[in-house]
Amino acid sequence: MAGRIPRAFIDDLLARTDIIEVIGSRIPLKKAGREWKANCPFHGEKTPSFTVNQQKQFYHCFGCGVHGTALSFLMEHDRLAFPEAVEDLANRAGLEVPREGGQAADPRDRQLDDLYGLMTHVDQHFRDALKENDRAKDYLKQRGLVGETAARYHLGYAPAGWDMALKKFGATDAGRQALLTAGLIIERNAEQEKSSSPGFYDRFRDRIMFPIRDSRGRVVGFGGRVLDQGEPKYLNSPETPLFHKGRELYGLFEVRQELRHIERLLVVEGYMDVVRLSQAEIHYAVATLGTATTPDHLNRIFRVTSEVVFAFDGDRAGRQAAWRALETCLPFAKEGRQLKFLFLPDGHDPDTLVALEGKEAFERRLEGSLPLSEYLVKQLSTDINLASIDGRARLAELAKPLIARVPEGIYRELLVDRLAREVRMPAPRLMSLLGAGERAEPRSLPQSRNHSARPRLSSGRGSVLKQTLARLIQQPAVARVIKDPESLRLTGDRGLAVLAELVDMLHVEPHLSSAQIIERWRDRPEHDRLSELAALALPDLDEAAAERELLGCIPSLLAGAGPERRVDELIEKAELEGLTEEEKRELVRLQSRPRT
Ligand code: UTP
Ligand code: MN
Repeated sequence: MAGRIPRAFIDDLLARTDIIEVIGSRIPLKKAGREWKANCPFHGEKTPSFTVNQQKQFYHCFGCGVHGTALSFLMEHDRLAFPEAVEDLANRAGLEVPREGGQAADPRDRQLDDLYGLMTHVDQHFRDALKENDRAKDYLKQRGLVGETAARYHLGYAPAGWDMALKKFGATDAGRQALLTAGLIIERNAEQEKSSSPGFYDRFRDRIMFPIRDSRGRVVGFGGRVLDQGEPKYLNSPETPLFHKGRELYGLFEVRQELRHIERLLVVEGYMDVVRLSQAEIHYAVATLGTATTPDHLNRIFRVTSEVVFAFDGDRAGRQAAWRALETCLPFAKEGRQLKFLFLPDGHDPDTLVALEGKEAFERRLEGSLPLSEYLVKQLSTDINLASIDGRARLAELAKPLIARVPEGIYRELLVDRLAREVRMPAPRLMSLLGAGERAEPRSLPQSRNHSARPRLSSGRGSVLKQTLARLIQQPAVARVIKDPESLRLTGDRGLAVLAELVDMLHVEPHLSSAQIIERWRDRPEHDRLSELAALALPDLDEAAAERELLGCIPSLLAGAGPERRVDELIEKAELEGLTEEEKRELVRLQSRPRT
């Protein structure tokens, strides 16, 4: 396993990162006073309540309460794990992520590195071979592709012959083993071995090659198409340590190369569709690799965009595939996301259609695609007579298990609303009939207008501490007025110990951003509370005023410290979220202690 990422590196990374760029490359941000605003990508809304603060390097949504650093944003928005988010920012900054205990020395990692290297060479080998083969070049030309498109997608040609790749890359045992692991050669089975020469042969022969690249642009597999009538029409890499068919989306890397902000993705069926659409300046198409859409695909898709359109043939097979896609999509249907279905005229695929009618006409079709809710209702109502009560009851019955798979929230409510109109029943009544629960999760509900989700200072006893911590996190330079953090620590109060730690840190490094401070606490229990404090609305004070405020707080912090404060803290927590068993015992112990 790779070692931990050193804290100092994360600090440095955040110092070199601008959260405005990170978020701005994913959602459109508008400058509004000192902050930047956008419609919140985490809940559905029409007026922007998502704000990003450049100075704090912190974002916060007044609507749904989400907040955090550039790293938190990548984790939430792109659904990355923490190390992946760090990796992403580091790539942007051109930095290598160091690991404690040196670089990953896992032999498995080394083997993977070798395989990626091999794939790069084989990719180049196929591209070179295309340049030298007129038949292959003519084939692409005849399919309407120009050189620039072929280059963008690294199209290549696997020469005819049984051992072209084998001879070139498999001269040694290790080379052969790598080719085999990468799925580029096939071992002759025992049967064949008797008759012909023993050993291996190339998987891809006399085919147009489509390299499949992962999100970082590394070639992980290939698809190969025959030039004429052979079978199978397309041959794909098998599952290998690098390549998992149900996870990769052909063309996603190229989309990300082409577009800074991906407004939507179009999911099509074929390699050719993706390539041909891109040539027509539709740069947002990706293809599943001869498989149905999987949850892994959807996770990938919603990491980079909030709108997806699935294109299907208008024929029976296409309709079946579309319904299967709808079922896979249900758990992913959430506010802020759009899932749509496009049915193409019979006998066409996106490749032929865009060649025939061009970009504008094709995009008009996209505009007319069916939202998931419409498609669901439409499909379920075929063969049902909605004029009869029985028919409408039947529709509700059919929808029930499907709606149950949509996460609770606005999207589900809208879906039920839509269905309620169809079955002519009040939505709440339908909702309870469906047993789908009448209340959505509070977190996914946009807050009503007069109630902001920005945490406010309560008037409780803990508020002075909160305010002090918040001020320090948001205006770190003022920590210098607290000369004696040790006295805070000596009280034995847990909250004050955190305060003392923060002050110590800021004495040494007064220029940390809010984001850097919060990231240092990431793995500790206080992280979430401190992160909330970074988003807390504080009165705008200049440094001198902020320092006076801070000094004014110290005496009351010290006075209120100790057991009394802890009792207050526990009582507050008991009211808000309840206590653990251990905390209950602590409270009883504190309350029954002899008073001095
Ligand atoms: P299609 O048969 O629809 O082909 O397969 P296509 O994309 O229109 O190809 P062209 O236009 O004839 O070149 C759609 C996708 O299904 C997978 C491939 O990923 C292909 O792009 N497929 C198809 C296979 O994996 N193997 C096959 O034999 C056929
Ligand atoms: Mn086609």
